[in-house]
Amino acid sequence: MKVQELKHSGLKKWVEDAVALMAPDAVEVCDGTKAEYDRMIQITIDAGLATKLNEKLLPNCYLFRSDPTDVARVENRTFIASKSKDDAGPTNNWEDPAVLKKSMTELYKGSMKERTMYVIPFSMGPVGSDIAKIGVEITDSPYVVANMHIMARVGTKVLDVLGSDGFYVPCYHSVGKPLASGEKDNGKWPCAPLDKKYISHFPETREIWSYGSGYGGNALLGKKCLALRIASVLARDEGWLAEHMLILKLTNPSGEVKYITGAFPSACGKTNLAMLIPTLPGWKVETVGDDIAWMKPGKDGRLYAINPEAGFFGVAPGTNNESNKNAMETIKSNTIYTNVALTEDKNVWWEGIGYDAPGKLIDWNGNPWTQDKANKDQPPAAHPNSRFTGPAKQCPAIAGEWEDPKGVPISAFLFGGRRPKTIPLVNQAKSWIHGVFMGSIVGSEVTAAALDVKAGTIRRDPFAMLPFCGYHMGDYFKHWINLGEKHGDALPKIFFVNWFRKNDEGKFIWPGYGENSRVLAWIFDRCDGKGKCVDTPIGILPTADAIPRPAGVSEADMKEILNVDIEGWKKEIADVRQNHYPKFGDKLPKELYAELDAIEKRLGV
Ligand code: OXD
Ligand code: MN
Repeated sequence: MKVQELKHSGLKKWVEDAVALMAPDAVEVCDGTKAEYDRMIQITIDAGLATKLNEKLLPNCYLFRSDPTDVARVENRTFIASKSKDDAGPTNNWEDPAVLKKSMTELYKGSMKERTMYVIPFSMGPVGSDIAKIGVEITDSPYVVANMHIMARVGTKVLDVLGSDGFYVPCYHSVGKPLASGEKDNGKWPCAPLDKKYISHFPETREIWSYGSGYGGNALLGKKCLALRIASVLARDEGWLAEHMLILKLTNPSGEVKYITGAFPSACGKTNLAMLIPTLPGWKVETVGDDIAWMKPGKDGRLYAINPEAGFFGVAPGTNNESNKNAMETIKSNTIYTNVALTEDKNVWWEGIGYDAPGKLIDWNGNPWTQDKANKDQPPAAHPNSRFTGPAKQCPAIAGEWEDPKGVPISAFLFGGRRPKTIPLVNQAKSWIHGVFMGSIVGSEVTAAALDVKAGTIRRDPFAMLPFCGYHMGDYFKHWINLGEKHGDALPKIFFVNWFRKNDEGKFIWPGYGENSRVLAWIFDRCDGKGKCVDTPIGILPTADAIPRPAGVSEADMKEILNVDIEGWKKEIADVRQNHYPKFGDKLPKELYAELDAIEKRLGV
C-alpha cells in the first residue's frame, strides 16, 4: 500500500513528516501477508544478513548474526523523557523531552538514505479486542519487519480497526546507518555505535523514538517499549495493569480451570513455567503468554488478561527438551534465530541444547568453532543472549483461548526470583496490600557475568518491572494499592515462589521445571481457600506435608525450603528498610511502610 492511500489523516501526515526527515529511498506500508514476510527475508538474504537453515530439519527458518556490539537491550541508553524528571523516578534514565527530541532529530536527519522505510501498523493484543492497543512503527530494517510479523499482529487488518481517526502509538525506528549511493550492507549488520543509540519514550505524548540498534527489545517496539513502558503509563491513567508477566492456564484432575500470571526478573524461567509439563498426575498446564500480561477489570471486578504478543522472543541457551520441550517444538519451523551457532548441515546449536556440538560449527561471530570440553574458558558458540523468534500458535501447549479478545480471568499472581537462601518455596500473601509489599521487594541473585554487580548479590527488581516501568515506581506501587482498594476480594490472590533454594553444598534443593506443578497445585487449592497451610510472620505457608514431595527431595529438604528463617528475614527486611525503600523518597506509599512496620513487629525486630 502507498502512503497516499492511508485513510487516517493524522497517520498519513506523521509518515510524510518522517519521510521528509529521514529521506528514505522508498516507502512501503506493510500489509502483513506471508508474501511480504518472504520478501523481507529474501531482502536480508540478498544483503548477506540471513542464512537459510536446513529446510528438512527446520522448515522456513533463518539465522541472523548481529553486530557484536548490538546483542541485547541497552538499559543505560533507554530514556523515559517525561516533562518532569520526578515523573520518571529514581530507577529510570531521564532526559528533557524537548532536548532529547532535538538531538534525536539531528540523528534521524537523512538516517534512511538509500534504504526503504517500512510503515508497520501493528496491534498488541487480538485485533479489535477492547484490551488491545494499536501502534505504528516505521523502520528501515526488513529484519524488524519480519520479526514484527511474528511478535505482533501486523498489516491492513490493523489499519481497518484504526479507521480514520483511531488512537495509535507512533514509533520511530531507524538502525542509524544510512547508505551512500550504490552502497550495500554486504553482510554487515547495520547499527550505530553505542553512544549514538537511543531507546526513548515520551510518556505524556505516548511516543517512542528508537535509534541505532536493530536488536530485540530495542527495535521490536511493540514489546518492551509499547507493551510495557508506554502501556504502564496508559494503564495507570486508565485503571488497569500492564505487567512483565507470563500467563498460564491450569487445569486440575477434576477439570476445573484457573488462570495464573507470574512476574519474574530475567533468567528466572518465565517461558519455562508458562510451558511447563506437569509431573503431577492429572494436572495440565497450557500457555497463554510467556512475557507480558495486560489486565483490565471486568464488570465483576475480576482482572481479565490478554497476552499482547503473538510470538515468543526467547533466550536460546539453556532451552532443551528437558527444560522446555514445548518451546523446542514451537521453534522447529517458521522461526528466526539470532546469534546462535550454525552446524555443518545448517542446523542450529547453542550451549545447553542438551547434546554436544556436532562437529565443526560457525559461532555467533561467524567464525569456525569446535567444542573443546577441556577448555573451561572457551568462549561460547552461541551468544548468551541469542534468541529465537517463534510464532505462539505453534506452541503445542498453547491454550485454545489464548487469543480470546475478552481475556482470561486471573485467580493468582506469582512473584519470584532467584534466591538461594531465606525465601521459601512458596508463600501466600495475607492480604492484597501484603502482596503488593511482596511484589515491591522482589529480588534476584545476579552473576557478575550478566551484570555489573558483585556476584551473589541480590538486585531488587520490584514486580520484575525495574527496566520496564514508564514512570516513577513509587507511583506504580500506589497504582497497585489503589486497584486493591477499588476491586477488593475480586482480585487475584498473591503468592511468592522461589524454585532456586540451595543447600550448604551449593546444590539446588528443589528440582524445578515440571515438578513446579506441585506448587501450582497448592496455589490452585489456596485460591479456593483449600490446601493445608499455616499462618506465619512472613505469610501463609504450606504445612510440611501439603505439597507431595518429588523424587530426590527428602523430608528434611522439604522442611528446609518451607522453613521460616527468622534471622534471614530480619536481614532481608533491614535491607528493604535501609537500602531499597529510601530510593523512592516520599513517593513510597505510606501503606507499604505500614506493611514494613507490621512484618518487623511479627518478626520481633
Ligand atoms: C525479555 C527481557 O527479552 O525481559 O523478555 O529482557
Ligand atoms: Mn521479558
